[in-house]
Amino acid sequence: MLNLNIDGFPNLALPPAPGRVFLVGAGPGDPDLLTVRASRLIRSATVLAHDFLVPDEILNLAPHHARRIFVGKKGGGFCSPQREIESLLIAEARAGNDVVRLKGGDPFIFGRGGEEAAALAAAGIPFEVVPGVTAALAAATATLTPLTQRGVASSVVFLTGHEDPAKPETSIAWEDYGRLGATLCIYMGMKNLETILRRLQAGGLSAETPAAVIQNASTPAQRRLVSTTGRLALEAEHAGFGAPAIVVIGEAVRTAEHLAQLAAAARDEALALT
Ligand SMILES: C[S@@+](CC[C@H](N)C(=O)[O-])C[C@H]1O[C@@H](n2cnc3c(N)ncnc32)[C@H](O)[C@@H]1O
Repeated sequence: MLNLNIDGFPNLALPPAPGRVFLVGAGPGDPDLLTVRASRLIRSATVLAHDFLVPDEILNLAPHHARRIFVGKKGGGFCSPQREIESLLIAEARAGNDVVRLKGGDPFIFGRGGEEAAALAAAGIPFEVVPGVTAALAAATATLTPLTQRGVASSVVFLTGHEDPAKPETSIAWEDYGRLGATLCIYMGMKNLETILRRLQAGGLSAETPAAVIQNASTPAQRRLVSTTGRLALEAEHAGFGAPAIVVIGEAVRTAEHLAQLAAAARDEALALT
């Protein structure tokens, strides 16, 4: 909006009012899993800054005139440094633009949304955070894995298998999580899977504890491998599993197998009746 002085002429002394930044969770990939708020914001966006994991089906919901800016990161590949992303969001907002910053899953789960929010706040830019369905929840529901279930698992933990590469060593005490009895959901764990599973077992987790890897959850490319903590790393490597994937460990995985059998039986019964 143009700032006018008392005579109706543009007031060049005042900067334009800043736009807003929406840190929006795009969910795990399936456009049907967007929140209504996320969908509305994308459909009315003028500037979209998006990650690698946000698929075209979701980006294409934006109007044709929307300006798309790729600020993605893919393990080992092109990577916009985090500070550059924050500077870009601030510059766009200072130029008066509302920016939809689309992030895979939920912005506040291993998505550096907290850093972006802090940078925006420090720069005086108004912002809003819109939650998204995080990958572990999508992986769980898509494979009928109740992450908590009475008598089976009463807690669930989200962990990252890939911390800041600048850190000399992992700060996660994997051995401690091996004794927790919780359902463990590991993001970005494929590269270090063998080490992670070995350390969980060193902490007391049985090698026979059920474990699964779910790749591309909620998308047409979804696939899953079910094994045990002792064998998963080798079997996943042989079967060519890689990112983006969630590793789920715990008795909840066994429940998934049971539920899948019940669901298949119910489907067959319904079919027989038609
Ligand atoms: C940088 S983290 C971002 C997580 C995201 N903010 C969330 O809430 O899901 C990227 C990791 O999320 C997981 N991930 C994202 N989308 C996934 C999907 N559709 N299926 C399985 N894992 C996924 C993978 O572990 C991937 O390496």
